[in-house]
Amino acid sequence: MHSKDVVIIGAGAAGLMCAAQAGARGRSVLVIDHANKPGKKILMSGGGRCNFTNLYVEPDCFLSSNPHFCKSALKGYDQWAFISLVDQHQIPWHEKEEGQLFCDNNSKDILDMLLAEVTKVNATVEVLTQLKSVEKQVVGFKLELETLDKKKNIINTKVVLCQSLVIATGGPSIPTLGATGFGFQLAEQFGHKVHTYRASLVPFTWNNEDKPWFSELSGISLPITVVAKSGKQFTNQLLFTHRGISGPAILQISNYWQPGESVIINLCSNVEALAELKKRQQTDGKVQLKTVLNQWLPKRLTDKLMERYFDNKKLAELNSKEMSLIANQLNHWQFMPGGTEGYRTAEVTLGGVDTNDISSKTMESKLVESLYFIGEVLDVTGHLGGFNFQWAWASGYAAGKYA
Ligand code: FDA
Repeated sequence: MHSKDVVIIGAGAAGLMCAAQAGARGRSVLVIDHANKPGKKILMSGGGRCNFTNLYVEPDCFLSSNPHFCKSALKGYDQWAFISLVDQHQIPWHEKEEGQLFCDNNSKDILDMLLAEVTKVNATVEVLTQLKSVEKQVVGFKLELETLDKKKNIINTKVVLCQSLVIATGGPSIPTLGATGFGFQLAEQFGHKVHTYRASLVPFTWNNEDKPWFSELSGISLPITVVAKSGKQFTNQLLFTHRGISGPAILQISNYWQPGESVIINLCSNVEALAELKKRQQTDGKVQLKTVLNQWLPKRLTDKLMERYFDNKKLAELNSKEMSLIANQLNHWQFMPGGTEGYRTAEVTLGGVDTNDISSKTMESKLVESLYFIGEVLDVTGHLGGFNFQWAWASGYAAGKYA
């Protein structure tokens, strides 16, 4: 029988940060992960350059049923604390846009930094290891752990006793990287409520009607403003793909979209189309509508919009009703997603373990003593742009101070 002060399930962003902090307090720490490597999402993140935080972290960049929950942890370990750690490890970084900080070289720099911090405090990371069962004891927990071979066959079982148990298993986005909904099942086993969860920061797919018209626009990217039913809006790039629409603006709005709702897309957010068409009709009546649209939109997109929605008349020939319809289509395109690409490509899972039964200061369960939840498994989801990692660092740090 082995014994540890702290066992952390999940060697991802939050779990490794928590291990380093708990270890720094002199706690003996074991981190287990069923994947064959730690931190796989860190390695994949930010297109291989890990958007590790954001200069403008604010609580309103996070979604949760309890919007106040994230505040304490984000204050206790802010973006400057993480930047300082990155600097201590002499990892070169740069700001890309809107405060998003990326590694100059490779995401591996961030993972290596976390593993170095974990090693420094003698915490142990065991990969290809999963939790078979957990039992609450009078003090702490009794865990049954299974060691796996590379084909995921069980090759060994052991019992570990621990005082504190930290669940850092993330959400089910991108199962090929080892992501599971295991943390949600475990939370429910201990009486925690789990909010409905779904794939988010995820591309929208075409509905059946739009698909034949627009799927061949794949590769076109343009700046847009997109508005959800709630009124939340983002201005950034939209990317047409074979399967639907993607790009930062679409990923951002997916956090605020509910299945069955449409979103309104302003395809030329720098142009007040109706006013401009009216003006041009007076000054330039002989010009064709298509010529004008080509000045505002990528040519292939104009072609498709003309084909589907508009007659190619001269501006002088358009009556005011036609002009209103055209302008509406450009500035208020009502897009009804067929759905999303789901967990296969989603960057995060929206929803998760209800935060009302978790201490916002320590991340400890209010229902089960010495049980902690950190990172994405909790019902806290950030915007695109380094916010989800900042939540992982901050919540991992908070739990690491108490577990
Ligand atoms: P994380 O998913 O990092 O770790 C969970 C760990 O638990 C994994 O190692 C997993 O193998 C393990 N695990 C799961 N089930 C288990 C079980 N049953 N037994 C044992 N182990 C188990 N965010 C951001 O801020 N900037 C960015 O650039 C990106 N980029 C990005 C790209 C891609 C492709 C994805 C999928 C996601 C991002 N994200 C991101 C989001 C970010 O990666 C995510 O929010 C954090 O990794 C969450 O950290 P956690 O530690 O909570 O989970």
